[in-house]
Amino acid sequence: MTQPPRAEIDQVAEASIAALRAPSVFNTQPWRWRLAGEHGELWADHSRQLAGLDPQGHLLLLSCGTALHHATVALLAAGYVADVSRLPDPSRPDLVARVRQGERCEPDDLLYRAIYQRRTDRRPFGDERPGEAVLEELRAAAARHGVHLHVVRADQVTAFASAVAHAGTVEHDDAHFRDDVLAWTTRTRHDRDGVSARSVVPPTRRTIAPRDFAQAWPAALEPGPGSDLGTVYVVLATDGEEPRDWVAAGEALSDVWLTLTARGLAASPISEVVEVEAVRQALRRLLGGVGSPAVAMRIGTPVGDNGPVPASVRRSGTEVVGLPGQT
Ligand SMILES: Cc1cc2nc3c(=O)[nH]c(=O)nc-3n(C[C@H](O)[C@H](O)[C@H](O)COP(=O)(O)O)c2cc1C
Repeated sequence: MTQPPRAEIDQVAEASIAALRAPSVFNTQPWRWRLAGEHGELWADHSRQLAGLDPQGHLLLLSCGTALHHATVALLAAGYVADVSRLPDPSRPDLVARVRQGERCEPDDLLYRAIYQRRTDRRPFGDERPGEAVLEELRAAAARHGVHLHVVRADQVTAFASAVAHAGTVEHDDAHFRDDVLAWTTRTRHDRDGVSARSVVPPTRRTIAPRDFAQAWPAALEPGPGSDLGTVYVVLATDGEEPRDWVAAGEALSDVWLTLTARGLAASPISEVVEVEAVRQALRRLLGGVGSPAVAMRIGTPVGDNGPVPASVRRSGTEVVGLPGQT
């Protein structure tokens, strides 16, 4: 079915708006969209990069990958296969992707609905472990992007927990890391980004504690009665370590996260283990042969009485989506 170019770009514009809800490291939202002719361009925004934690911009590209995948999910819900060229111009490495409305297909809004339900849930999860069938579905979601999802085995959890704890200690002792946390937990209401106290839980006894964000304020989200007994830890790993691998890892992170949300599960990423290079190498050896660790996640069954985590803020479409040449 042919449509006038105007309608085509409208569909991509809608997709870029849905992509505003994508998760990003420290909620930096390090992207901008430019709508050009019949396609949308997704650009990396290095002014939003974490200088201490992410000097090479790996997590920035992962975050752009989540936005890219969210856009493809929105197109699918509208009944179009997304036609995507990733990193299409070597002379402009910040151009992460060009997205066009591709072939017509059967609309599927399962993951699209999950975009608006997904949250980073840092609370302890319940005793019930996600079943093998859903873990297989998550492996398949990662594999769609050429990324491996490794479930940390019971006999690897203690070593994995010490890797996370060690990375946390290294970061806590480093002023550059602390500066990043401080900068992105003290954003003004007007900025509409960063991590807020109401999405962070105070420390409790648990196998693996989420990142300590509470420098500037006390954490304000009730942890609830969960134990993390059934929580599964996974590592997303890539075959290579090129920019396209980090983008693919972000697309996989989004696909896995939306899929598990659609299945009633909850999750939060753990990226400390890849931010400290020595820990990333130790993790790679621990997992033996699954590839280069790109990001880890904890996944579990939300505890019924807890209710949803409040939605985190996002910048508006007028700020993020524009025309070519606009800065
Ligand atoms: C690449 C990446 C790395 C992240 N790393 C962590 C992390 O180490 N610890 C954590 O608690 N949240 C982490 N997050 C979650 C973000 O802080 C979260 O997505 C953001 O604050 C927006 O909140 P929302 O996911 O609830 O929309 C990460 C997210 C992404 C995309």
